[in-house]
Amino acid sequence: MKWLEQVAKGLEHIDAAGLRRHLKVVESPWGRRVRVNDRELLAFCSNDYLGLAAHPAVVQALQEGAQRYGAGSGASHLISGHTRAHAELEGRLAGLYAPWVPEARALYFSTGYMANVSLLTALAQLDDEVEFFSESLNHASLIDGMRMARARVSVYPHNDVQQLESLLAASTAPTRIIVTDSVFSMDGNLAPLAGLDRLAQQYDAALVIDDAHGFGVLGERGLGALEHLALGSPRIIYMGTLGKAAGVSGAFVVAHGQVIEWLVQRARAYIYTTASSPALAHAVLASLDIITGDEGADRRQRLQANCRHLSESIYLQKWGLPDSDTAIQPVIIGSNNDVTKVAGFLMHQGLWVPAIRPPTVPPDTARLRITVSAAHTPDDVFRLGRAINRAEREIDDDAYL
Ligand SMILES: Cc1ncc(COP(=O)(O)O)c(C=O)c1O
Repeated sequence: MKWLEQVAKGLEHIDAAGLRRHLKVVESPWGRRVRVNDRELLAFCSNDYLGLAAHPAVVQALQEGAQRYGAGSGASHLISGHTRAHAELEGRLAGLYAPWVPEARALYFSTGYMANVSLLTALAQLDDEVEFFSESLNHASLIDGMRMARARVSVYPHNDVQQLESLLAASTAPTRIIVTDSVFSMDGNLAPLAGLDRLAQQYDAALVIDDAHGFGVLGERGLGALEHLALGSPRIIYMGTLGKAAGVSGAFVVAHGQVIEWLVQRARAYIYTTASSPALAHAVLASLDIITGDEGADRRQRLQANCRHLSESIYLQKWGLPDSDTAIQPVIIGSNNDVTKVAGFLMHQGLWVPAIRPPTVPPDTARLRITVSAAHTPDDVFRLGRAINRAEREIDDDAYL
C-alpha cells in the first residue's frame, strides 16, 4: 500500500524535525491538579482560566439541561435542532453585548474553530471581490477560514497598524474585512483594537475580532476585549469562545442583526452540522451567571494576582519572558529540542506545561505556553517559577528528552 508508506514517511519527517506531538489521557475532572497515567500533576496548560470547567453550579446545570432537553439535539439548527436552550443563550449573549454592538444579535456555534470558519467563508460570499486584512499571528481557525473562503488575503505584520493602513489605502476591493485575534493565543498580548477600529471606520471596513482568550478574563464583568477597552462600533463582528474561560464548550458570534441573519443563511459550518447538545447551552447559561457576577470578578482578581506572582518569581538569563496582559504567559526558548527537554524536566517534577513548536508558532520561537488560572494557589505558581529558573540552569542535561 503505497499511500500508507507515504504516511510512514510523513511521520518520519515530523520526528526528524523534533515536532512529533503526543496525546495524554486525563482521568480526573479538570482542575489545578489533574490525574494523568496514574500520576497527579499540577497543570498549567488549560484555557480554563477561571476554574469553571468543573464548577459545581456549571456541572449541575449540565445535568439539569440533559434532564430537561435530553442528550442530543437530533438535527441541524435549521432543520429541527434549535432548542429553547440555544435560543435562550443567544438572547442572553446579544443582551450582554448590546452596549458595544448596535442592534446586536448572537449566534451560538459548536466550537470556536467552526465559528471562525463559518463566519469568514460566509462573509466572503458578500461579493466577488472581498479582501481580508489578516494579522500575521492570527489563530489557525481564522487562517483556515480565509483560505476556505478563497478570497484575497493581505497579511499585515504583528500589531503594525501603519502597515495595515498602507494595505487598506492600496486596496480597491469593494468589501474590506480586517481580521484579528484580540489576545494572541501563543503570546498573551493584546491587539491594538482601538487603532484597528479607527482604520475600519476610515476605510469603511468590517472588523472581525476573535476574543477566544479575552472573553471571561478581560473587562469588569468578564465580557472581554470590548468591555476592557470600552470599544463599541457597528463595524465590529465579535467572536467569543465558551470552552475556555467559560469552562464548557462552543462559541458565539455577536454582530449587527443583519450580519447574523446572513450567517444563518450562508454559514455552511453552521448549517450543515448537527446542533450541539442543548445541555451544553444550558450549562453555558450558568457559567455566564458566574462570569458576569461577583464570583467572576473575584476569580478574575485571583487570576491577575497569580499572573503577577508568576512574572515576579521567574528570573531568566537566556530565555525570554515577554510582557503579557493575560493568563497566557509564554517563556520563549527557541529550539524545538530544548523546549521539549524543558517540558520533560517540568513534567518529571509533576508540573504540566506544554511545549509549543512550529507550525503553531514561528520557527525558532518554540516556547513553554504557561496558562495560569484563578484556581491556582500562589504557592502553585511560585513552585512553577522556581522550577523554570532551575530548568534554565540545567537545560544541557539530556536526561529529560
Ligand atoms: C484565538 C483562538 N480562536 C479560536 C479558537 C478555537 O476555539 P475552539 O477551541 O472553541 O474551537 C482557539 C482555540 O482553540 C483560539 O485560541
